[in-house]
Amino acid sequence: MSDTIITAPADEPRVPEIHKGLAGVVVDRTAVSKVDAASNSLLYRGYPVQQLAAGRDIEDVAYLLLFGELPTPTQRAEFDEEVRAARPLAPGLHHLIDLIPTSAHPMDVVRTAVGALGAAMPEPQRSPGVFDADETRHRAARLFGVLPAIIAYDQRRRRDLPPVPPRDDLGYSADFLHQVFDREPDELEIDVFDTSMVLYAEHSFNASTFTARVIASTLSDLHSSIVGAIGALKGPLHGGANEAALELLTTVGDASNVDPWLDDALARREKLMGFGHRVYKNGDSRVPTMEAALGRLLDRARASSGSEAGRVGRLADTYDALQAAVLERKNLKPNVDYPSGLAYHLLGFETSVFTPLFVASRVLGWSAHVIEQREANSLIRPLSEYEGPGLRDVPAGG
Ligand code: CMC
Repeated sequence: MSDTIITAPADEPRVPEIHKGLAGVVVDRTAVSKVDAASNSLLYRGYPVQQLAAGRDIEDVAYLLLFGELPTPTQRAEFDEEVRAARPLAPGLHHLIDLIPTSAHPMDVVRTAVGALGAAMPEPQRSPGVFDADETRHRAARLFGVLPAIIAYDQRRRRDLPPVPPRDDLGYSADFLHQVFDREPDELEIDVFDTSMVLYAEHSFNASTFTARVIASTLSDLHSSIVGAIGALKGPLHGGANEAALELLTTVGDASNVDPWLDDALARREKLMGFGHRVYKNGDSRVPTMEAALGRLLDRARASSGSEAGRVGRLADTYDALQAAVLERKNLKPNVDYPSGLAYHLLGFETSVFTPLFVASRVLGWSAHVIEQREANSLIRPLSEYEGPGLRDVPAGG
C-alpha cells in the first residue's frame, strides 16, 4: 500500500523562521497611512492625524483617504452630495435587520447588513485583475454614507423606538448623533464624536485592514472585504476593546477598588482591555487627542448639578486611577479604545454599539487599502511549517 502514496518532493521549500502573529513582518508598501512607533506619530497620506482632528471634519478625512488628497471646495460639495444621497437605509434593509434577534451583538447586525448591500449591488464582472478604482471609491463613499443609518436603526429598534430619517442639512457626525438620539446634538458633542471618527478612520496594517487586504487579494469584491474586516474588528483584542474597556471601568466601579481589582486581574493573568498595543510600545499616538476631547465632556458633566455629576466624577477618577496603576504595575499605556470607550458612554451610546461606531469610521481605511491592494495586487498566501504526524499509511478497513 505504501507505494501508492505520493511523497513530497525532497526540494520542497522549508520555512526557516516562524513569525507568530506576523509580528514585526513588513508584508507590503502602503501610501495610505504611516504609523511611526518611534516618534509616536500617525500620518494619513502625510498629514498628522492630530492636525486633521483639529482642523478638518470626517468628511474631509474620508475624501483624503479614498481619493488621496484633501478635497477642493468643489470636490467636497460633490462628495457631500454623494454621501448624503446614500444616507437613508436602502429599501428592504429594515426588514432584513428586523429578522435578526436583538440578542445578537450589533456588530453581527452591521456585518449582515453590509453583506446584504454587497449582494444587492454586485460589482460588475470584469476580466480577472481588471478593476475600476474610481468605481470602488464611489461604492466606498456610499457605504460610508449609509452605515450611520444601519447602526442607528438597529440601536433604536432595540429600544422599541421608531427610526429617525437622516437630515441633509446636518454634517456627517451631527446627523449620525441625530439619527441615534432623535435630537440635534450640540457643538461639543459633535466635535468629540467627529474627533473619534477621524482618529479611528485608518491605522495601517492592523488585523481588520489586513483581513480586508487578504480578501481583496483574491480579486473578491469590496463588500466581501469589508464584511471580513468587520468580523476581525469585532474581537476584543482589536476594535471590541472599546466596549471591553468601558466594561472594565464599570466593573472596577471606584478608584478605591483599583488596587485590589488589579491584584486579582494580574494574578489571573487577565488582559487589561484598552491597554497595550502591538506597534506602539510607548503610548498610542491617538490617545492625547482623544483624551483632550474626553476631558471636555468630563468637565461639562462634572459641572452639571445632581447625581449625574457624582457618577461621572467617580468614573473619571476610576479612569485616572486605573491608568496610573496599570502604568506603575505593568508599564502599559492606554490605547485609543480606553478614552474613546468612556467618551462614547458620556455621549449616551450603549456599550454594545461602540465597536459598530468604529466600523462606521474604519470603513474608510479598509476601502482605501482594498483599492491599494487591487492596484498592485499579489495574492496573499503565506506558508506554514507543518508539525502534524509524519507520513503514515491509512489503516485498512474502517
Ligand atoms: N493586559 C495585560 N497584559 C498585557 C496587555 C494587556 N492589555 N498587553 C500586553 N500585555 C502583556 C502580554 O501579555 C505580554 O506579557 P508576557 O510577556 O508576560 O506574556 C507582554 O505584555 C508583551 O505583550 P506584547 O507582545 O506587547 O503584546 P501583543 O503585541 O501581543 O499584544 C495587544 C497587543 C493589543 C493584543 C495587547 O496589548 C492586548 O491584548 N491589549 C488589550 C486589548 C486591546 O486593548 N486592544 C486594542 C488594541 S489598539 C486599538 C484597536 O485595535 O482597537
